[in-house]
Amino acid sequence: MQQVGIIGMAVMGKNLALNIKNNGYSVSVFNITRAETDEVASKYADKNLLATYSWEEFVGSLEKPRKIIMMIKAGSPVDQTIEHLQGILDKGDILIDGGNSFYKDTNRRYQYLRKLGINYIGMGISGGELGALNGPSMMPGGDEEICQKLLPLFKKIAAKTPANEACVNYIGPEGSGHYVKMVHNGIEYGIMQAICEVYDILRNILNLNNTEISDIFDKWNQGSLNSYLISITTNILRQKDPITQKDMVDVILNKADYKGTGNWMIEDALRLGTPISVIFAAVFARFVSNSTLGPLTNLVHSDFTVENRNKFIKQLENALYLAQIISYAQGFEQLSCASKAYNWHLNYANIAQIWEAGCIIRATSLADIKNSFVKHPSIKNILQAPFFEHLVKENLSSLRDTIKNAHECYIPTPVLDAALDYILSIFNAKLPANLLQAQRDYFGAHTYARIDKSGTFHTQWYDEK
Ligand code: 6PG
Repeated sequence: MQQVGIIGMAVMGKNLALNIKNNGYSVSVFNITRAETDEVASKYADKNLLATYSWEEFVGSLEKPRKIIMMIKAGSPVDQTIEHLQGILDKGDILIDGGNSFYKDTNRRYQYLRKLGINYIGMGISGGELGALNGPSMMPGGDEEICQKLLPLFKKIAAKTPANEACVNYIGPEGSGHYVKMVHNGIEYGIMQAICEVYDILRNILNLNNTEISDIFDKWNQGSLNSYLISITTNILRQKDPITQKDMVDVILNKADYKGTGNWMIEDALRLGTPISVIFAAVFARFVSNSTLGPLTNLVHSDFTVENRNKFIKQLENALYLAQIISYAQGFEQLSCASKAYNWHLNYANIAQIWEAGCIIRATSLADIKNSFVKHPSIKNILQAPFFEHLVKENLSSLRDTIKNAHECYIPTPVLDAALDYILSIFNAKLPANLLQAQRDYFGAHTYARIDKSGTFHTQWYDEK
């Protein structure tokens, strides 16, 4: 009898199966179409990797209670797989969805399978193909008792932080694991777009070529900006196109695609009232890249000169560092709003640790975020922690000046702008929302609160005829 079953032999499923097998567990694998299973079997089948070719053979090969991980496309394929399995699974079996499912679908599936006595775990997995093989970051949600049973396996196959802690832990009830993965992806969108904006400034204002820009990113990667996304950017900028021998990045069409996790995060932010402006800006920047018109004439500022190149580059580094931190800050802010609204009791230090290695947003900064939550568990925003408050003060003028320079040259910086506006707003006790409340009360009698008395007030702003 095999210890773990994997459904879905596309690259993520295959690599996760190999990771589990390489860690000493026996696995059964199954794919809806035969060819993928055959391919895996031809290379890897042995006593610890059993290829199966029907739902019954797959389920029958697993020890009870069965532990089955679905590594399939989110959406209707998950429902179809559940339909196939529900009649042949036994009460107490554990079904895990390792895809990028929408958390509300996971809530629904969890409730449905609970009635049948089947335990359902929605597990966000990050790290791409290599992560799945060598150690992903994993965010399992569902019943705590069931997750605890799975943790020894998950801890073995997960990425490890520099302090050798596993990048997996229990997240919370129902779809919370997939929710946390959705927020991970939103943060990913924010950081990726911030990097792209800085690249755009470097190539347009300093007229640097891709190799020179790569060298700058490489240097930044040795400092506080150290992260997976900066390191892959360094590599991308050095890659040549095998067809034209040009720089790869210059032959790629500049229209950004997306699969929707960023959009989902925004939808929930609108519901919860969470100000995730950086993530909004990053998602919208992808939309805009698909709606561009031809260039406007005169939109080139040819007499802009950079007096101190080193200072300019240092400011860019600081600006990117701060914008990246704001993307994390807004992601964690949304987690805190969701935790309250959905009663999930999320542990933010825990989540920061899960993201410290293995996942796409892994960065040295995540250890600082974790430490801040450990030291100050009641903060609702990481910027309240002294470490980050100081970081904002140190880098704010660089962000402002970078944006000023970019705008002077008509270079759009939607994420950097959103990061600056967010900082200027949340650290401002005198936002002009007093006037806004007055306007609402004037035309709609929507009432307002006062600074000097508690309660709800309305003013008769004009003479009634
Ligand atoms: C990960 C990635 C992964 C996927 C993104 C891409 O954590 O391994 O986030 O889940 O590559 O979701 O998303 P878009 O196609 O929307 O850019």
